[in-house]
Amino acid sequence: AGGWRGLIEEFADRLPVTDATPRITLREGATPLVPAYSLSEATGCEVFLKIEGANPTGSFKDRGMTLAVSKAVEEGAKAVICASTGNTSASAAAYAARAGITCAVLVPAGKIALGKLAQALVHGATLLQVDGNFDDCLNVADKLSQDYPVVLVNHINPYRIQGQKTAAWEIVHTLGDAPDIHCLPVGNAGNITAYWAGYNEDFKEGNATRLPRMLGVQASGASPIVSGHVVDDPQTIATAIRIGNPASWTNALDARDASGGDIIAATDRDIHRAYLRLAREEGVFVELASAASVAGLLNKAAAGWITPGQRIVCTVTGHGLKDPDWAVTTAAQPKKIPADVATAATALGL
Ligand code: F0G
Repeated sequence: AGGWRGLIEEFADRLPVTDATPRITLREGATPLVPAYSLSEATGCEVFLKIEGANPTGSFKDRGMTLAVSKAVEEGAKAVICASTGNTSASAAAYAARAGITCAVLVPAGKIALGKLAQALVHGATLLQVDGNFDDCLNVADKLSQDYPVVLVNHINPYRIQGQKTAAWEIVHTLGDAPDIHCLPVGNAGNITAYWAGYNEDFKEGNATRLPRMLGVQASGASPIVSGHVVDDPQTIATAIRIGNPASWTNALDARDASGGDIIAATDRDIHRAYLRLAREEGVFVELASAASVAGLLNKAAAGWITPGQRIVCTVTGHGLKDPDWAVTTAAQPKKIPADVATAATALGL
């Protein structure tokens, strides 16, 4: 039987696995790289969207989770734990269910999107809503994993980064080389670390002839890397990246500096604009945090940082259905009508 077998099997020779490693997979990866016509026109560049919402649980987290959970099971774990702004918990819960082990999740109370909460709960995770932010949740989860028999599957678990590198490899494979610029949202800074590592490996192995400039984008109310200091009370509508003290801060700086890139902040207003633009002009429904990559690209294009004709990839990290509340409250409200053709025609302006 042919078909995509999931990341571990497809990239077994490039990942830290052996034949003895169980394959806990939902056939994640192989996500579409979609040309973005409206963004290409706006920037004078060739822009592509790496649609990570097409992964099994609707975000890029599945790439790291298949490896982290498989390795945990290989090492005999019966339980995993994570802190999350939502997507990590959804992914951990699904892969733990697949592996037949338990999953504990710590999330900031009232600050995660409904769809993500639903996923963790329906997959059977034990979910604690913590009176605190993501950074508080991660501190508690990390300490629990040191003192109790439970494996931490946040990205400070090194297997997470290893798995997430595969997205860069897929892009290089599809385009035939690395892009000139890679844009992505930055929260805890694991993903920018992973992409940069992935591109570097492809470069060293001769699969790519160049390295992209990495453009990381934080939300302006949660932009510690941009401001250079920890944000105690991060605030943004993009709850997935509402993080004040990123675990991979120094790795993000390294990716920025070594690539000749930048890490910038986009306002909630710009993020929301980019979110609607992606939905209405590209037909791509992402969650707010994911639109930060595009908001950052548009800001940098307006500032003259981008040379026309370049090839640019924006990772859109999570599916729009994760957060239906935002979509419904900010789009135009539907009209209510009787079941009548003439009224419908009038209402539709036909
Ligand atoms: N986009 C989405 C949709 C996310 O869920 C996250 C992180 C990011 C971007 C940022 O990635 O942390 O590697 O820089 N979400 C984590 C979570 C924190 O718990 O789901 P990062």
